[in-house]
Amino acid sequence: MIRGKKIIYGITGSVASVKAPIVARELMRAGADVHCVLTQHAEQFTTAYALSVLTKHETITSIFPSHFPNTQHPAPNTSSTWHIDLGRSADAMLIAPCSATTLGKLRFGIYDNAVLLVAASLKEVTPLVLAPAMDEEMWLQPAVQENIEWLRAKGVYVIDPTSGALASGLSGIGRMKEPDEVVKEFENIWQQTKSENIIPDPGHQAPDTNLKGKRILITGGPTYEPIDPVRFIGNRSSGKMGAALANVASQEFGASVTLVIGPSTEKTDGLLHRIDVETTSQMHDAVTQQLPAADIIIMNAAVSDYRVKNYSIAKLKKNGSLNGLTLELEPTEDILKDIASKRSAKQIVVGFALESKERGEEYARKKLAEKSLDMIVLNFYDEAGAGFSSDTNRMTIFKKDGTRSEIALASKTECARAILNEILTIL
Ligand code: CTP
Repeated sequence: MIRGKKIIYGITGSVASVKAPIVARELMRAGADVHCVLTQHAEQFTTAYALSVLTKHETITSIFPSHFPNTQHPAPNTSSTWHIDLGRSADAMLIAPCSATTLGKLRFGIYDNAVLLVAASLKEVTPLVLAPAMDEEMWLQPAVQENIEWLRAKGVYVIDPTSGALASGLSGIGRMKEPDEVVKEFENIWQQTKSENIIPDPGHQAPDTNLKGKRILITGGPTYEPIDPVRFIGNRSSGKMGAALANVASQEFGASVTLVIGPSTEKTDGLLHRIDVETTSQMHDAVTQQLPAADIIIMNAAVSDYRVKNYSIAKLKKNGSLNGLTLELEPTEDILKDIASKRSAKQIVVGFALESKERGEEYARKKLAEKSLDMIVLNFYDEAGAGFSSDTNRMTIFKKDGTRSEIALASKTECARAILNEILTIL
């Protein structure tokens, strides 16, 4: 998709810069013509020399490159407005890793290093893609989140960080995705920006874009609560329904989707904004952060209701616990209930309920009221072809206005369409 395209690859001061040569190599493998620009802080983690050797272009590290025309060794074809030449000739720019400081400077128009200067010199239509990387505390700073939301609203694309081991030795959200994933997401973004300009073939059925311009926050998959470093409490949710909702909402309904998903192998290729989490608390944090920017919230995740109170930092040994092992559990955050107290009146909130056939309807209606929902989707764990790992589902939908509708057994993609169509009736 990016074969033959001129990609400016900016690298800023974060430990994740050690992965920069691999990101550059992946971009080149995809056929791109890669031009690297480094900040001086990034040079603490990676070298301009290695990037130049790899990309076969000189890596720029300063606002005043040594081969400026007014220096002693001017390089041919290099003008003093090199950043304008580079920015205007680029097909796209990727900044990975993008530090918290770079996010702030981009938002406030402070262009005091070579990477920022090129970013400011891109043509208006040239996609700018950021892959932030930082420790969890920094990532969760309200200023950082506000900057990201502001940049997103201005059309900048963001490859969200993931959860995992961080440079501090702690674990949490803020880790840059692996180089191959960054480049894959970058290619998807590129593809999407191109398809926005394609005139549709008249014979092709146009997608229903009734949710175009709407921002939908979807949760999916299970959450895992650790017992010790190798064991966890989880549930059998596969993430299929959440992934289907996200894919259908963005590809068929034209919505701008953020998917917050617990451990799942489900693919959401082409989805621009996916946040992978593990625990209920991480899901709660991610949802809380994304909530203000959402018009519609669909809470499909099968959230763990309890976490282990006495988490062991060492692997629990069988010796010494031959008489059994008692785990003390404490309740996790009820994310959906919490949203009810923070949501604005304009936001639509949809919940799910997985219940038995016997008393499912009674429990679903109770949750609809108790969690102040606009709509709840009831499905059953004790019915063939429905529930967690199945590719199909049968559902009953209850709305705040008292209406009830049935969706007969269908694929999860079909179910996703039906749910989104029901949401359209509320809108
Ligand atoms: N939910 C949530 N946070 C939790 C538990 C559930 O946000 N800690 C959300 C789920 O995503 C779903 C809805 O609440 O949309 C109902 O989840 P469910 O597990 O069916 O209900 P619970 O409230 O956990 O009640 P119970 O387990 O007693 O049925």
